Amino acid sequence: MNSFTDQFLSNDKNTEFLKTTMMGPNAMRVAEEMASYLDIQEKNRILDLGCGSGLSTLLLVKKYGACVFAGDLWISPTENYERFQSIGIDDNAIPFAADATKGLPFADRYFDLLFTVDAYHYFGDTEEMLPSLMRFVKKGGYIAVAIPGIKYEFGENVPEEMQPFWNDEVARTIRSMDWWKALWQKTENIEIEDIREMDCCKQAWSEWLTAYHPVVAGDIKMMEAEGGKYFNFIQMIAKVV
Ligand SMILES: C[S@@+](CC[C@H](N)C(=O)[O-])C[C@H]1O[C@@H](n2cnc3c(N)ncnc32)[C@H](O)[C@@H]1O
Repeated sequence: MNSFTDQFLSNDKNTEFLKTTMMGPNAMRVAEEMASYLDIQEKNRILDLGCGSGLSTLLLVKKYGACVFAGDLWISPTENYERFQSIGIDDNAIPFAADATKGLPFADRYFDLLFTVDAYHYFGDTEEMLPSLMRFVKKGGYIAVAIPGIKYEFGENVPEEMQPFWNDEVARTIRSMDWWKALWQKTENIEIEDIREMDCCKQAWSEWLTAYHPVVAGDIKMMEAEGGKYFNFIQMIAKVV
């Protein structure tokens, strides 16, 4: 399933590139697993929302030959453009500045697929967000979201070992599969096709913990405390009808 990512990582230079580029659990691996549940065709037009530094974009362009609009809030389009040039995907990867909460500059029904890895939880936790984004996807197209989550809702009972890592923002964004499912079930004109825990969770996290990003040191402590008991990675796929 992860043949592209494994092949990519078999090269030392690529491993180094990934270690300097990851912003969370290996987005290339997460993107590859989620993409395997979709029927992505060459030249499909994909909105990669919250693409960060574009590891999911790289996967979608190089593995599938898709045309990917790569939007992000924290990483500038210029930084992504230069990276896309350096890895030879700039003809099919179009970087743009995006704040999903403020509307996007696209025609209705423009995309075959809205694809988002490790970002939707930051902005997608309201009833309004999915309807506001699905208009950009053509009828019969798909919305595919992969996000870190928890196996059950903590509510007021945050496990003791997780309390040092739990604050209001984490509590707002890190939710269970049932919580996300209930939120998406309120949206009309979509068919939820698949909500599941992803297989790559452990590996994507352990690859992230080798990255050079400054938050890794804190995440190593968090993952030691978590010990495989609470976290999962949630994949949600819906068809626009
Ligand atoms: C943990 S990083 C993950 C980046 C990338 N998807 C990855 O997995 O490597 C979360 C990303 O969500 C993006 N993000 C957060 N809020 C956003 C918003 N309102 N609109 C667009 N992107 C947003 C950030 O810019 C950031 O790049």
